[in-house]
Amino acid sequence: MPGIFRDRTKLSPRYVPEDLPHRQQQVQQIVDVFSDATDPDRFPLTILQIVGNAGIGKSTTVLKSAKALEEKFSRHHLLLKTAYINLKLQGGNKFAIYRFLLERIAPDLPSQGLSAEEMLRYLLRYLRDNNQYAIIIMDEIDYLVKTSKDSSIIYDLTRLNEFDPDKPCNIKGVIFVSRSTDYYGKLDSAELSTLGRVPLEFKPYSVEHVSDILSNRCDQAFENRAIGPDIIDQVARITSSPQVNGDVRYALDLLLYAGNLAESQGTEHVTLDQIRKVHGQTSPSITTEEIEQLSKHQLVSLIAVVRALKSRKKQYVELKDVRLQAAELAEQLGLKKMEVEDHLDELKVRKMIEVHSFKEIGLHGASLSELEPILISKVKQA
Ligand SMILES: Nc1ncnc2c1ncn2[C@@H]1O[C@H](COP(=O)(O)OP(=O)(O)OP(=O)(O)O)[C@@H](O)[C@H]1O
Ligand SMILES: [Mg+2]
Repeated sequence: MPGIFRDRTKLSPRYVPEDLPHRQQQVQQIVDVFSDATDPDRFPLTILQIVGNAGIGKSTTVLKSAKALEEKFSRHHLLLKTAYINLKLQGGNKFAIYRFLLERIAPDLPSQGLSAEEMLRYLLRYLRDNNQYAIIIMDEIDYLVKTSKDSSIIYDLTRLNEFDPDKPCNIKGVIFVSRSTDYYGKLDSAELSTLGRVPLEFKPYSVEHVSDILSNRCDQAFENRAIGPDIIDQVARITSSPQVNGDVRYALDLLLYAGNLAESQGTEHVTLDQIRKVHGQTSPSITTEEIEQLSKHQLVSLIAVVRALKSRKKQYVELKDVRLQAAELAEQLGLKKMEVEDHLDELKVRKMIEVHSFKEIGLHGASLSELEPILISKVKQA
């Protein structure tokens, strides 16, 4: 009997698909925004913002567009480098972020002892001296602005062409990607004005779009008969429900877990029951990718919330309960004492937990019994 999976890594969040059904138009739109960039007599710095809900292909589409632009430059015998930063993953202050840019674009330049501004100047000079070009992608910029007090990074990056106004700016573009424009409230007027007010908005996929996307991904991930069209339609409907809100990442997780379940139950194909079971046990607000992004302290804090809720058997618990659980767990894991509050704040921004007050801390609708073992095994690896 053939198995369920052909290649389950094709469902993983790390896999970047070749084809992006229903986002080709956006890929082209982004490439078109930079249509002047390969003209050596012009040196515009193009600032582009992309906004849209979670899991609707923003990061994937931007990366694909950057690749298309690199190819376009190469057809003009020019070298374009892409520096992609996911600020939720990379985090850090402005200094760390600029150092990362320098490492990506100019790896042979030492960054030690340079001020933030000097790093950008070096970067621009390096590109000019070597006849190279670059494009910078700042993904999850809303996360950075919400968690750090310093948003001057937006001011700096949107004015790269003013560092040496009489010389060409070989950084051709900066793309900011975010889930919403909420973070505008934290910017000052100068930052807002250079950012420009009109983002390219990614609309959610329709149910039919999600079906097409999932069929495509399933063809690569599953054996021929393992996934029927009824399963794909059901997952597409779940994905488009208000609870999941169009997040394709959740749909891929659901298919992966249901496939695993089919394998362990020894069925010939994935059944609707298996989809229902997995959907009932997993949480659209906490996906595997998001769990993988958490630091050890964030994981400990999240487990502490789960445990506190379990032991109190209530919808909300108090901070002191969470602290108690975190202290116990930290000790078991041999970690130093930790400030739970700081991490709870980060988990709140990531929309994993709800914090209404010190007396009301809860989870975003996750199924507790399912979540804890996943988190525990993760924190032991981290
Ligand atoms: N059109 C598509 N075709 C194939 N796969 C897709 C498509 N759109 C999204 N995906 C897949 O869905 C997942 C989520 O996409 P992506 O990470 O680009 O979303 P996002 O909009 O950046 O979400 P977030 O705001 O959470 O960062 C990825 O695994 C991606 O491969
Ligand atoms: Mg993204």
